[in-house]
Amino acid sequence: MKRVLLCGATGAIGQAAARTLAAAGWSLYLQGWQHMARIHDLVRELQIRYPQQEFLPLQADFSVADPVTPIKDNLFGVDAVVFSQGITDYELFVDAPADVLDRLWLVNVRSPLLITQSLQEKLAQTGHGRIVYLGSVYGGQGSAMEAIYSMTKGALSAFAQAYAREVASLGITVNVIAPGAVDTPMNAAMLAGAAREELTTEIPAGRLAAPQDVAYWLRVLLAPEAQYLTGQTIYVSGGWLV
Ligand SMILES: NC(=O)c1ccc[n+]([C@@H]2O[C@H](COP(=O)([O-])OP(=O)(O)OC[C@H]3O[C@@H](n4cnc5c(N)ncnc54)[C@H](OP(=O)(O)O)[C@@H]3O)[C@@H](O)[C@H]2O)c1
Repeated sequence: MKRVLLCGATGAIGQAAARTLAAAGWSLYLQGWQHMARIHDLVRELQIRYPQQEFLPLQADFSVADPVTPIKDNLFGVDAVVFSQGITDYELFVDAPADVLDRLWLVNVRSPLLITQSLQEKLAQTGHGRIVYLGSVYGGQGSAMEAIYSMTKGALSAFAQAYAREVASLGITVNVIAPGAVDTPMNAAMLAGAAREELTTEIPAGRLAAPQDVAYWLRVLLAPEAQYLTGQTIYVSGGWLV
């Protein structure tokens, strides 16, 4: 049985990823934090559709000093890990309090890296371990009003490129899927009214991404045939920005 730890499974992209990966035969550890009811609903749905696979909820806060214990203590074998959790903050950097900087760093970078570190041995045992971080186009071309967020996403790309070289000989690939503008609640406030139309005209593909556009690439990267692609940031942005 192939198992993936899917972090951020309560989020818009995470929910699409869960359905896509389950349809591809994956059993799932589904991590969430404040919205666990969404995971319990999803588990019920997936258990009915895919009775031969396992779907296990995991609750963990990534904004704390030790995010590893609640994850590691509840995992058995794991072949892949996808980090689709993430938070942002809209304000000028000059106005951002230090605790905002700390929080984005913990949730978006420090916790996924520590969890990665703790799972390396398990991922190596499979001979084809997979690690995917959700980055952003803003990690490649930073956004005003989201300077801290842009920094965290750029950090994931830099880390993936370097760490991929450490673990390639163990059969583990490490990549970043970096979406452009996805039609999700994370963007709802920013894209109210005319702003949505304005943004859409800037995107060469002529529309925002659907969460499934992102989930597709996660499925591809997790396949055994994707073994030779590692250390990369793949921009799923409809040609927008980078
Ligand atoms: N949406 C976009 O347009 C877009 C574009 C580029 C990149 N991305 C990236 O893609 C990823 C998924 O985005 P999304 O739109 O699906 O986001 P979302 O719907 O806002 O979901 C965010 C996820 O992060 C989790 N999370 C938040 N704080 C946490 C904490 N303290 N500890 C543990 N988990 C926490 C949430 O869990 P709970 O709700 O259970 O607390 C939720 O599962 C993020 O990394 C985001 O930066 C998104």
